Amino acid sequence: MSNMEKEKRIIRFSPPDITDLEIEEVARSLKSGWITTGPRTKLLERRLAAYIETGRTDIDCENDEGIEKYKDRVVCLNSATAAEELNLRILGIQEGDEVIVPAYTYTATAAAAIHCGATVKFVDIQKNGNPVTHAPEMDYDQLEAMITEKTKAVIPVDIAGIVCDYERILEIVKKKKALFTPMESKGDPLTDLSSRIQKAIGRVAVVADCAHSLGASRTFQGKTTYCGAIADFTSFSFHAVKNFTTAEGGASTWLPLDEIDNSEIYKMYQLLSLHGQNKDALAKTKIGAWEYDIIGPWYKCNMTDVVAAIGLKQLDRYQGLLERRVEIMKKYDETCDKLGISHLNHHVEGIDSSNHLYLIRVPGISEKQRNAIIEKMAEQGVATNVHYKPLPMMTAYGNDCFAYQNAYGYYENLITLPLHTLLTDEDVDYVCEVLADVLNEIRNGI
Ligand SMILES: Cc1ncc(COP(=O)(O)O)c(C=O)c1O
Repeated sequence: MSNMEKEKRIIRFSPPDITDLEIEEVARSLKSGWITTGPRTKLLERRLAAYIETGRTDIDCENDEGIEKYKDRVVCLNSATAAEELNLRILGIQEGDEVIVPAYTYTATAAAAIHCGATVKFVDIQKNGNPVTHAPEMDYDQLEAMITEKTKAVIPVDIAGIVCDYERILEIVKKKKALFTPMESKGDPLTDLSSRIQKAIGRVAVVADCAHSLGASRTFQGKTTYCGAIADFTSFSFHAVKNFTTAEGGASTWLPLDEIDNSEIYKMYQLLSLHGQNKDALAKTKIGAWEYDIIGPWYKCNMTDVVAAIGLKQLDRYQGLLERRVEIMKKYDETCDKLGISHLNHHVEGIDSSNHLYLIRVPGISEKQRNAIIEKMAEQGVATNVHYKPLPMMTAYGNDCFAYQNAYGYYENLITLPLHTLLTDEDVDYVCEVLADVLNEIRNGI
């Protein structure tokens, strides 16, 4: 179909999928008399813990058994950036430490480490990404070579929802164990806990950035494990454009350690996220319980019950939302295969992605031609995006185009197509037609 014949549609990039279910639950929370961190946030934390452990969203986390089993496992916060920063702070990341971050990610991954005073060391991605999934995954040989006595954490990023090769990453950090020296306690509660955590882990920690990958899994040697139950620490994002949203929001989780009670770790997250205050607002409402102490001059990044209400209903709908994303991806896959465009493989070789982003790479085009495609698609009403301009190319990270050749090569012909659950089948067909027309124009030099 030519541009002349097509009726123009407006295709937004990633609008939130909010129904009356979420709206009514938010209204109930607003009317309940408790709007900040409280019962809805705690319930969402337990339900997320159950989901991460089982892949199921229907486990009853309000009965005694559910409460006991899934408490103190997940902490809901106001963003993934805060979640990652608290993960690193609990781990004791500080000045003098090195944290390895892929060059191909969003700024939050690196910024959280910088906020803690650490030095970020960028690792390039594999040339053209992972050979099977095509995801822009870090170069693991380079990762191995970069680990020094100063390295305290590596932050793999599950870009687009595709789970990184955590078996390989674990193998590398275990191999480099001899270089690792755990920090010592300075005698205060936070460094005391961090020191015990570092001693229990006993190697460079794997602190996963799963901002895109809630619900994604990896099956290895017959065992399926969901994001959140793979790395030592994990952060998730519930930002407005994510598969699962609370408008703004995020969560932290970690793998339980034999040496340390989960409730102690959970309590430290609460303290770090609420000014180091040893009683939260709910605890202070108990009769005569006004008095509190401040353990440390810490941060303010707790989740409110108003937004947790959105999350509870999004979780009820999440399996269906993931399925719809797969349907859309299948249509895009067919079109891209026909047009000779490379795309990510979200469901291959034991990897089950959360289907967050649809990245395509058009062979043989320059960065300028890529930008022209984006503009021409926008003229036809189709919003696209680029995930990501490699971080080292950004001003804050040194504005260096040449040091990370694979990341740059991956980015220059990359376009992210709109993938969200408000797209109708007709919208998806329209995006495919516009892509084919625009590509034809570019390939013919029009
Ligand atoms: C890879 C990655 N990490 C971290 C974040 C930060 O998420 P948030 O906005 O919830 O802080 C994002 C947000 O887009 C992201 O894409």
